[in-house]
Amino acid sequence: MGCLNKIDLHFQTLSNFFRTIFYSWQQKRTHFILFFGLSGIYLIYRYMTLDFSNAMQLHDFNDLNAFPCNLRSLCICLSEVIFLEGFMRRIYSCLSSLEVLHLIGTFELSSESEEDIYEVINISKIKAHTPNLKVVNLYGITFLDDTHIELLASNCIHIECLALNFCLRVKGSSFKNLIQRCKKLRTLLLHHAGVEDDHMTSVPWETSAIHELDLTSTELSAQCLENILLRMPGFTYLGLGYCEFFNDKILEKLMEKNKFSRLHALDISHTHALSENAIYQLIQTHGQNLRGLMLAGKPKLTENFWLNAIPYLKNIRICVLGTANGWFLKMQSRIHVDQIIEAFAQNCPRLERCEIQWDPDTIRFSDKSNKFIDHIRLRCPGLKSFTLSDGEYYEMVKSNFERADRVKVVRTCTNYTTSIVSLLTNYNDLLFN
Ligand SMILES: *[C@@H]1O[C@H](CO)[C@@H](O)[C@H](O)[C@H]1NC(C)=O
Ligand SMILES: *[C@@H]1O[C@H](CO)[C@@H](O)[C@H](O)[C@H]1NC(C)=O
Repeated sequence: MGCLNKIDLHFQTLSNFFRTIFYSWQQKRTHFILFFGLSGIYLIYRYMTLDFSNAMQLHDFNDLNAFPCNLRSLCICLSEVIFLEGFMRRIYSCLSSLEVLHLIGTFELSSESEEDIYEVINISKIKAHTPNLKVVNLYGITFLDDTHIELLASNCIHIECLALNFCLRVKGSSFKNLIQRCKKLRTLLLHHAGVEDDHMTSVPWETSAIHELDLTSTELSAQCLENILLRMPGFTYLGLGYCEFFNDKILEKLMEKNKFSRLHALDISHTHALSENAIYQLIQTHGQNLRGLMLAGKPKLTENFWLNAIPYLKNIRICVLGTANGWFLKMQSRIHVDQIIEAFAQNCPRLERCEIQWDPDTIRFSDKSNKFIDHIRLRCPGLKSFTLSDGEYYEMVKSNFERADRVKVVRTCTNYTTSIVSLLTNYNDLLFN
């Protein structure tokens, strides 16, 4: 840690500051220690979260005479309507130490009315003061578009990880510059961003170092996916969930061109164009390297598939399988879950998180199922999270684990979602609350 700041604030001012802007210290990850000394207040911390998302109005901040100048990570939760310039003006000069910046937008709270979109924080001014940024997470910011990414790329050339999840106005026209300027960029997360074919295909991806990519819930065509994925240097982490047009042909070419030789995390859930056979080939070839696999929402992948596939997943930590809403999809086959559980128990000693989405209409089990649950509990001792569809089977597994004093491991799909993001290199820096 090694950073000690003397803050030239009187306690009174500080407490005003706390009160006026709904101020939240990030509990878990904040190394935050307050010393009350005779000569003032000393703060040791490098992580800060400022949450304006619920604020009604902004204080004038005239009393804010000091701000910590060696923060490593800053998270600002934006409001839709509060302009932060008054506050930011007082802290710009303290941002040069920042390596991690989160700006959290209002995508989830948003009323969707186009007229009321305000640019509440000035990215141009921020980038001018943050030359050392490595990890930038811009999440669900309604006003954010490619011009802002160009601004960042122009000054923050050390960016290694850029997350633009749920930024619908980012189309990708800035990525050419981004790739050319930010040579260290290796992680690009575009979950449900507004990226478009033409912009994406005109980026010189072959010159990039990107090996962690998330395109989940984007609407890129098969042609575009083939074009861009094949030009990238190869993947360790690849998110293609809900990519309707990712198909067998592209998958085969990626394997042929050796793009998966280092792959350890893959999301191909809800990819309707991918066949059972192609996926099985992939798992046979690369399964032993995989630490995370999301392969849910594929009604044709039944018991048989998984019984064959799981033995290849020797190093798997996180696995999501099964298809929810079987009644809606009119799924014909029933899934006998016991042998699948047994396959995990026999083959996957490192399993930490497992989610099985088939619901009670689809799943079959019996009185003997407890024996198999015992096996997975004992043979996968690192299992921290076991997520199932709410119903009798869930109850059975839950009480089995609870009898063995393993409480809180078994969860329902309604309350918990399993993800592979923890396998990203910068996962710890990407967390925000
Ligand atoms: C942000 O700051 C720049 C430079 O100071 C200025 O030109 C620009 O108009 C500002 N943008 C907004 C949205 O306030
Ligand atoms: C989901 O979580 C809520 C509280 O967070 C709890 O009350 C509820 O019982 C949970 N539901 C299930 C099915 O676990």
